[in-house]
Amino acid sequence: MSERADTAPILELRDVSKSFGAVYAVRDVNLRVYPREIVALVGDNGAGKSTLIKVISGVHAPDHGEVYVKGERVHNWSTAQARRRGIETVYQDKALAEQQTVMRNLFMGREEAGPFGWLRLGHQRAEAEALMRRIGFTSRLVSPDSVVATLSGGEREGVAIARAMFFRADLIILDEPTQALSLTQAREVLRFVERARDDGSSVILITHNVYHAYEVADRIVILDRGQIVGEFQRTAITAVQLIEYMQTVAHEGAPVN
Ligand SMILES: Nc1ncnc2c1ncn2[C@@H]1O[C@H](COP(=O)(O)OP(=O)(O)O)[C@@H](O)[C@H]1O
Ligand SMILES: [Mg+2]
Repeated sequence: MSERADTAPILELRDVSKSFGAVYAVRDVNLRVYPREIVALVGDNGAGKSTLIKVISGVHAPDHGEVYVKGERVHNWSTAQARRRGIETVYQDKALAEQQTVMRNLFMGREEAGPFGWLRLGHQRAEAEALMRRIGFTSRLVSPDSVVATLSGGEREGVAIARAMFFRADLIILDEPTQALSLTQAREVLRFVERARDDGSSVILITHNVYHAYEVADRIVILDRGQIVGEFQRTAITAVQLIEYMQTVAHEGAPVN
């Protein structure tokens, strides 16, 4: 069973649907995310993964359905509201400032202005170093003063995830963070994801790589043509069974309703 009766979910979606014109991008989705859990959301291109997380992060309002954060139904949901309620999202185009330092990127748009700017800068550097240790940056070549453009793809993902960790988000959403990365770099990113969970956040990890999902997720949710067509505790299934299941679903089509 995937449900945990003992703890309240951080996030709950009830019968959420979102369409674009005639296309149902997300249809009747029910989803719960519990504290300190990595939920992998897997599915092919066009399955509705990005749309679903944009509903969670306040980019899209759902056409139908309800969103609950820590048991409370949200109204007038927006990206600002989502952030205030502890949901941080790293979108597919991470929007890092490539020519800026790691430190600037970590605190971008959040610098506290004040008369003691020089003091704050020292404080920010210490904070950046602490964050980078927390998320597990190991390369001695990367410091808060490194320019992002000089970092590997995996390390850039790490910066984006660390930025989300900075405010101790309850839920961090990552849209395809391992896409287009080498095997080694993808591994590194998956370790960052585990660090974020171990640090106290829940994570929704979007990927269409089942092996990446399988490697870190506590629970795996399969999306197909806008609908959830399967949900498994990682310990309840092997990677091969998962792939076979997804192929069967793709072959037979999503459940009719
Ligand atoms: N802003 C949009 N306008 C119109 N159609 C969209 C928009 N965003 C997504 N879609 C459509 O919704 C479906 C799901 O897309 P998406 O959520 O991006 O899937 P995924 O992230 O799983 O690849 C696709 O058919 C896509 O073309
Ligand atoms: Mg997508």
